[in-house]
Amino acid sequence: MAVRSVSHIIKGIPTLEGAGFLVHRPFPSDALSDFDPFLLLDEMGPMEVRPGEAKGAPDHPHRGFETVTYMLSGSFRHKDSQGHQGKLAAGDVQWMTAGRGVVHSEEPSEEFQQTGGTLHGVQLWVNLPKTDKMIRPHYQEIPAAKIPSARTSDGNVAVRVVAGESLGARAIIETRTPIFYLDVALKPGGKVVQPVAHDLNAFAYVLSGPVRFGSHTDVQRGNMVPFERDGDEVWIEAPPESQSSARVLLIGGRPLNEPIARYGPFVMNTPQEIHDAFEDYRSGRMGSIDF
Ligand code: FE2
Repeated sequence: MAVRSVSHIIKGIPTLEGAGFLVHRPFPSDALSDFDPFLLLDEMGPMEVRPGEAKGAPDHPHRGFETVTYMLSGSFRHKDSQGHQGKLAAGDVQWMTAGRGVVHSEEPSEEFQQTGGTLHGVQLWVNLPKTDKMIRPHYQEIPAAKIPSARTSDGNVAVRVVAGESLGARAIIETRTPIFYLDVALKPGGKVVQPVAHDLNAFAYVLSGPVRFGSHTDVQRGNMVPFERDGDEVWIEAPPESQSSARVLLIGGRPLNEPIARYGPFVMNTPQEIHDAFEDYRSGRMGSIDF
């Protein structure tokens, strides 16, 4: 077994989204356009929101990929053009396969808008292979209590398995192509070795640091760490001298190696398909939210 090395470090760029929602976005950015098969990573917040001031993303479309929303604090309400609605609380995951198209809104829940508090979450965009881009939209919504988790034998590392497999625990979310998505919490001195197949691209995003990856030391929060494909495992370690626990998302997937044509909320293979997506959206063929 060989340990993957860190290729470089990418700092999430603070960006204002939708109606003024703070996100840290490692990609797409000047540093990295995409990380096949992933198209975007947003850390939403963390931001302290006063009662009545919470903002979200009003009605907007998606086509050609999947959005994965993982709430860490606060709660979001989701509504879409299929008549589907749901609420995401801390620890819940929504894996939305937009396929041929949905129009949806993602906004803080009414309760959260009234009380205010800390809003924090992560959204990842997962590209769909050409053959799946126009499939029927569908959802996997998993409450926090149903996400499988496991610990290292010394109890110093706990992993929540959103997708894929870790420490013998297997996710209940199904993915269209091989994807893993792990939320790794490490006490000071905690260490875990995660096997990663040779043909998968993998990166870490540090939610609380510092963290060490193999020989690469002390990566702080807000940084994305893409790994080289030079090994078949990733080492994550929290320095023993740390004063507090660390938390890292470890995410990977098999690259699609297909052409990407993207414009805003549409990600297809050719410019013509992007044009068609706009036409379908404008003419109402992706539907609207009417409830
Ligand atoms: Fe969205």
